[in-house]
Amino acid sequence: MTMDYFEELLKKPSLFIDESKLDINYVPDLLPHREKELSLLSQLFLTLITNPNLVSRKILITGKTGVGKTVTVKKFGSLLKEAASIRNIPIKYIHINCRKERTNYKVLIKIIRFIDKNFPKRGYSPQDLLEVIIEFLDNQNCHLLIVLDELSYLINKGEDLIYTLTRINDDTINAPQRLSIIGIVRDLSCLNNLDISTLSTLQRNIVKFNNYTSEQIFDILKYRTEDSLKKSVISDDLVEMIAKIITENGDIRYGLNLIWRACKIAENQNLNYISAENIRLGNQELIPFSTQDTLTYLTIHKLIFLLAIVSSLKKNKHVNTSVFEVLSFYHVLCENAGLPHRSYSQLWNYLQEFKRENIISIKIISENIKGRKALIEIPNIPLIKFEETIIKLLALKGIQI
Ligand SMILES: Nc1ncnc2c1ncn2[C@@H]1O[C@H](COP(=O)(O)OP(=O)(O)OP(=O)(O)O)[C@@H](O)[C@H]1O
Ligand SMILES: [Mg+2]
Repeated sequence: MTMDYFEELLKKPSLFIDESKLDINYVPDLLPHREKELSLLSQLFLTLITNPNLVSRKILITGKTGVGKTVTVKKFGSLLKEAASIRNIPIKYIHINCRKERTNYKVLIKIIRFIDKNFPKRGYSPQDLLEVIIEFLDNQNCHLLIVLDELSYLINKGEDLIYTLTRINDDTINAPQRLSIIGIVRDLSCLNNLDISTLSTLQRNIVKFNNYTSEQIFDILKYRTEDSLKKSVISDDLVEMIAKIITENGDIRYGLNLIWRACKIAENQNLNYISAENIRLGNQELIPFSTQDTLTYLTIHKLIFLLAIVSSLKKNKHVNTSVFEVLSFYHVLCENAGLPHRSYSQLWNYLQEFKRENIISIKIISENIKGRKALIEIPNIPLIKFEETIIKLLALKGIQI
C-alpha cells in the first residue's frame, strides 16, 4: 500500500482549468447581464473624469443576495481607475466591507492605511482621521471613491460616519470635492435608522439590481464554467439544472459553489465529466455561501443559540419548532459550554438578527400579554451540515460542545 497521497492526487487529471476562478471573491473578465448597470454607473460618475473634483457623487446600490452587486461595483472601480489613469487624473478607489470593519473607526483606519501604509493604528480620534484623509487628498489633488459594501452593518450602530462622509465639503463653497461614495445594501429598510438629511442625500441616486431571470442565470453560469472548467466537463443540460435549482432565490454564489462541489465529487469518483447525480449530491451537502459567511461573524452566544434551534428542529418531527422548545436545548448547551444564559429579550433580538440574515423564518402565532408564541423554521439549509458547521466554528473559538 502506498502512502503517497499527494503523489496519487497529483497524478489524477483535474477537471478544472483554474479552481480559483470559482472563488466568490474572484472578479471575472465579463459580467453578463450587468452591462446596463455598469453603463449607468459610468454615466453617473463621468464627471469624475471630465471635471475632476468638481462634484461629489453619492450613490446607493440595492438588490438581493448574490445578484452581483459587489462584483459589479468592483469591476466598475477598476474601469474607473483605468479611464482615470489613461488621462493622468488622480483617482483612488477603495472597497470596504462594513461587515468586516464594523465600526466608524475601523472603516476610517482602513481608508487611511490604504492611502498611507505606515499610518499608526492608535492615537487618533475619528475626527482627526477624517482630517488626515482630506488633507492627504488635498495635497495629492486626488479624488477618492469609497465603496461601503454591506453598509447596513454600520447604519445599525447608530453612529454618524455616513452622515459625516456625505457632508464633507458641504459647508465650504467652491472647495474641491474630494470624496464620492457608493453604498451597497440588500434592503432599503435598514436606511430607516438614518437621519432625514443623510437619507435624502443617499436616496437621490438609487440603482436597483434586479433579480436575474433563469435564462440569465444560465448564461452567467455557463460563462463561469467555460472560464473555470475544462471543455466538456459539464453539459448545457446540467448548467440548466443548476440554474433551475438557484432560480428561486437567485443567488449566483450558491450556483458557483455548487458547480465547484459537483466537480470535486466527480473528480473523487474518477469521472472525467460532471453527472446529474454529482450535482444532486453537491446540492444536498451545501450550506448557502451567504449563510456560511454570516456564521463566521456570529459571536459564541449567537452560535450556541443557533445550534439550539438546529438541535431542536432535528429532534422535532415537525417542520418548525417553538422558542420554548429551543430554550430547553439552549440551557443544556450553555451548561455544557460552561457559559451563563443570555436573557430572553437578548435571545429575542438574536432571533430577529437570524431572520434578517435569512437563516431562519419566524411565524408569530399568538401575541398576548403573556408574551409571543413564535414558531421557528429553517427552510433551506440541510440541518446535519448546518449543525456540523456551527460546531466546527465554536471549536475554532475554543468552545467544545
Ligand atoms: N453577471 C455576473 N456574471 C458573472 N458572475 C457573476 C455575475 N453576477 C454575480 N456573479 C458572481 O456571483 C457571486 C455573487 O455576486 P456578488 O458577491 O457580487 O453578490 P452580491 O449582490 O454582492 O451579494 P450579497 O448581497 O450577498 O453581498 C460572485 O462570485 C460573482 O462573481
Ligand atoms: Mg456583496
